[in-house]
Amino acid sequence: MDKSSGYDIVVENLVKKYGDLLAVRGVSFRVKRGEIFGFLGPNGAGKTTTIHVLATLIKPTSGRAVVAGYDVVREPMKVRRSIGIVFQDPSLDDQLTAYENMYMHGRIYGLRGEALEERIEQLLRFVELYEHRNRQVRYFSGGMRRRLEIARALLHEPQVLFLDEPTIGLDPHTRAHIWEYITRLRKESRVTIFLTTHYMDEAEKLCDRIAIIDHGKIIAEGTPEQLKSIIGSDVVYLRLSARSEKDPCSILDIPNTIKECKLLSDDRVALKVANATEAIPLILSIASSKGLRIAEVSYHKPSLNDVFLYLTGRELRDEEVGGLENLFIKARALMRRGRL
Ligand SMILES: Nc1ncnc2c1ncn2[C@@H]1O[C@H](COP(=O)(O)OP(=O)(O)O)[C@@H](O)[C@H]1O
Ligand SMILES: [Mg+2]
Repeated sequence: MDKSSGYDIVVENLVKKYGDLLAVRGVSFRVKRGEIFGFLGPNGAGKTTTIHVLATLIKPTSGRAVVAGYDVVREPMKVRRSIGIVFQDPSLDDQLTAYENMYMHGRIYGLRGEALEERIEQLLRFVELYEHRNRQVRYFSGGMRRRLEIARALLHEPQVLFLDEPTIGLDPHTRAHIWEYITRLRKESRVTIFLTTHYMDEAEKLCDRIAIIDHGKIIAEGTPEQLKSIIGSDVVYLRLSARSEKDPCSILDIPNTIKECKLLSDDRVALKVANATEAIPLILSIASSKGLRIAEVSYHKPSLNDVFLYLTGRELRDEEVGGLENLFIKARALMRRGRL
């Protein structure tokens, strides 16, 4: 591939088999220079396997992948020099200090002397671990270790950074803290980031574009907004101050805005709209001009979880879903795909 194409990752029909198990079943995607691209999917979807192929740690069974302009099979050394990686599983040396972990890594990449010292200081300051540089990593919290791994992956100024589940197992506060570094990284450097996650809030918060991966296949791709528009609508809920004489749905029959209106009870109305923040002011002004008194307005934006549910019939959650409602949702999804 031509290095000036503007894409830092190009993947075409990538397949990875472990024996009989098809872990990755022909995925294709492109990541632009400077973009944060996310692979969002449940456990076992094939995220780590894809990262390991892109980072040249395992060979693809078939298909092609080009990272930073180099083919992962034909030019693995050039790929390795161009990338940094934070593994899903911890990979620091517990017996060494933060500084020593950084130093060793720098030496492996051929850095030395003042340039290496300066880079270590700069990065340890970036992840706010400079004060802890001489402590052994075994005394670090999970969040501190993650930050050190991120700093280490950036040491040789990679063009592409891979983050495999960067906040897995961390508490919400620490996760938010890690997100800040990733967001700052994208602002302050030109690094392209490919991350995997099974947390939809993380994908939504960090990624410019997301591919949803399930059972080794990409089932949807786009910006978070585009993905949510698969659901098609926001839902606005109104509670009326008094029972209306006229049918609220006929009063609120606003062309090009209301896609569907449903009377939920005497004083509750649900309206499907393309965009709730644009529709609400219009709904309120028309309701008021026609004497429909509204006590309360709320709306529900579809989440990436709704998108995953819609596409697969399953929740994108750690825990197994239960309950009758989910059984129905699953049955509906299977019927849509002609399996029931
Ligand atoms: N080294 C391996 N040998 C055999 N099967 C593997 C290996 N690594 C992963 N798998 C299987 O491949 C599938 C994808 O795994 P993985 O890429 O780790 O998914 P994810 O990172 O999305 O959780 C899973 O079914 C997993 O059990
Ligand atoms: Mg994984």
